[in-house]
Amino acid sequence: MKKQILRALKNNKENFISGEELSHQIGVTRTAVWKHIKGLKEDGYEIESISRKGYRLLKEPDILDADILEIEIKNRYIGNKVIHFDQVESTNTVAKRMASEGAEEGTVVIAEEQIGGRGRLGRNWISPKKKGIWMSIILRPLIDPMEAAKITQIAAAAVANGLMNITHKFVGIKWPNDIIINNKKVCGILTEMSAELNCMNYIIVGIGMNVNMTNKEFPEEIESIATSIRECIGKEVSRKEIIKEVLHSFEELYLDFIQNKNIQKSLDLCKDYSVTLGKEVKIKSQHEEIIAYAMDISEDGQLIIKKSTGEIKKVLSGEVSVRGITDYV
Ligand code: BTN
Repeated sequence: MKKQILRALKNNKENFISGEELSHQIGVTRTAVWKHIKGLKEDGYEIESISRKGYRLLKEPDILDADILEIEIKNRYIGNKVIHFDQVESTNTVAKRMASEGAEEGTVVIAEEQIGGRGRLGRNWISPKKKGIWMSIILRPLIDPMEAAKITQIAAAAVANGLMNITHKFVGIKWPNDIIINNKKVCGILTEMSAELNCMNYIIVGIGMNVNMTNKEFPEEIESIATSIRECIGKEVSRKEIIKEVLHSFEELYLDFIQNKNIQKSLDLCKDYSVTLGKEVKIKSQHEEIIAYAMDISEDGQLIIKKSTGEIKKVLSGEVSVRGITDYV
């Protein structure tokens, strides 16, 4: 019911809407309306109430309420269902469990805080309370598991594009899944999947974005290589606005891939925003460390490198450092 009242207030932002009209629209008593308005005010909404005129929404807080996100994310699939937690181990772990229990495509799991946030290559992901966006998207694409790397490229393109619209700063993508501003990492993507031999069960795209931390709030070991949106633009930013922008971009690129089999838009964005291509890179895998020149990104989302021997190779994953960016000296 709170969701219906909010929707009515938001649709009427310029005007007052009377308690009577609200109770009529929603089918509850005026006292019930009043109670919900009181609850919304306690959540931080500024609502003007004038007798005989009614209620008018003045200001909304930057809270990640599932109902509000569902109203405001105007997508066809991605974010139609939002599950919000105050605290979880890891949104990717929760999303995997929900996906295996049948959660629908596009469901977004989001938390204010993760106490066991996971990064790539078994690393931790620091996810302090209300300081960032810690979310996971459940996808059920009918694609070959071999194509999963493309989903990471779609997500990277969507995040970079969404952030560029919000910050108006140059946002870089360090292949395959790091988002960089001012040469420091602001966001990481962790794609995980469950698949049979040639059939995909589900994919989880986990996005971790440092939004409102100050430099001092980063642990010492990552202080020199990590940054936040707030540090980059010099003021606090609405997490909700970023989520809307990123999920909007993601849906557009994802549907183009799923429905039209077109990955080109995403790849073009990944190449345009790339801070990897044209640079010397160091690629660490389980067995070896290669220094090479990053030439291109292939159709299937792999990095094409040229070794000093002249050999050209495709790299699917591994830890990539780029000379001059974050951690490669
Ligand atoms: C990386 O750069 O290593 C990837 C980091 C991914 C972090 C996000 S936060 C939301 C989701 N839940 C997790 O436990 N990890 C991802």
